[in-house]
This record gives sequence, C-alpha cells and structure tokens, in this order.
Amino acid sequence: MRLDKFLSEALGIPRSESRKRITKGQVTVGGTVCKKADAQIDEKTAQVACGGTPLTHAEFVYIMLNKPDGVVSASRDKRDTTVTDLVAAAFPRRQLFPAGRLDKTSTGFVLLTDDGALAHDLLAPGRHVPKEYLVTLDTPLTQEMQAGFAAGVTLADGQTLAPARVEPAGEDPCVVKVTLRQGVYHQIKRMFGVYGAGVNALHRLSIGGVALDTSLAPGQWRELTPEEVSALRG
Ligand code: URA
Repeated sequence: MRLDKFLSEALGIPRSESRKRITKGQVTVGGTVCKKADAQIDEKTAQVACGGTPLTHAEFVYIMLNKPDGVVSASRDKRDTTVTDLVAAAFPRRQLFPAGRLDKTSTGFVLLTDDGALAHDLLAPGRHVPKEYLVTLDTPLTQEMQAGFAAGVTLADGQTLAPARVEPAGEDPCVVKVTLRQGVYHQIKRMFGVYGAGVNALHRLSIGGVALDTSLAPGQWRELTPEEVSALRG
C-alpha cells in the first residue's frame, strides 16, 4: 500500500493532507523519516508513526451515531440529510453505510461502517442480534400487549413475528422498552398498531449488547472501541 493512502486511512484525513505531512518530514517508517508519499509499505507489518505517534492501519471503520429526528438512514438522498452525511467529512475516503435502518422520525443508535461482512452478519435473520428501543406510546402499555409480544405478534398483513419483549421503562406507563431480534420494516409501529396503540417517539438504545453512548447528543458520533467491535462480531 502507498504510504499516503495508509496515513489517510489510519488518521481519517484526505490524501492531500497526508502528502503534506509526509513531505514536511512528520512521518517515519521503521523509525526513519520517509518523505515519499508513494513509498510502498506493508500495511500489516510496517511501523509507521506521524509526529511520533505510532499508527495502525484500520481496515474498516465502525461508528456509533446518535441519529437525530428528520435524518434518513441511507448513504445518499436527493432531498434529506442522511446518517452518512453527518460523518462523511471525517472519513472522505470511506464508503460508509448504515448497518440497519431507523425510520426518519426515529432517533438513537445507528451503526455506520464500511465492513460489509459484519453488517451482513448483524442483519442476518439467523443470527437474531438483539436490538433495544425506548418507545413512547400514545396509550399505556397493557398486559395484552406484553403477552402478545412474548408469543409473537401477527401483523395486519398476516405475517407472524418472532417473540419479542416489551416492558415498562419506568414510572410512565406510556414509556416502554422493546427488545427485538428481527428486523421487519416499521416493525415496532406495526406491532403496537395491532393493539390500536400509536408510537409517538422511538429511540434505539443498543445493538447486539452494545449500548449507545449516553454522552452523544443527537447528531454526535464516535468510533466504536475494539471491545465494542468484538462484541458485535459475537
Ligand atoms: N421499528 C419501527 O417501527 N421503526 C424504527 O425506526 C425501528 C423499528
């Protein structure tokens, strides 16, 4: 791999910025300054440092985003801001996409990555990766809903869903926590719809046991820690 490409991917900076740092003599390979942006290095074994900080090549990027209301879960959209738009400036060289979608009005944890294999695995119906949501209903939770979710709701179109969990999230009987191990379009809204209940707000709290960092305000993001990535790999 070229040195400037390595630097861009390791630091999430444009190739032009990498070249500047290299020609300024800020980058060392195996402890020796290298001013050639096109120098070929082995990205797995080369000891590259920039400004004295050792770098490792990140093959893939994993981002935890707190999706705000009104942003669409897609890579590109003609009219609306997308989840990818919110992080794109920091990763100009990456083809990031959301691994699993939230409705435009839903908020919370969206995982953005360029690791197609992990995304595919997380979304595979057979893996049953749990996802938790905080849901505000327009009517209080009932025992009928709880029992129905546990048994497997049959949607209006006749589709019977896998068992899911719904429980009170606190004192307010209209605020509940839902755990799904399936991903059907508008699933939660359609499940509550069967009981005549409307969803006023829906916020994803976790994916595969990895919780959304509560310090992230809507629109903010951070990269996953190596421990969080291993948890998602399962
Ligand atoms: N279920 C829904 O209805 N909407 C979402 O955004 C996620 C799950």
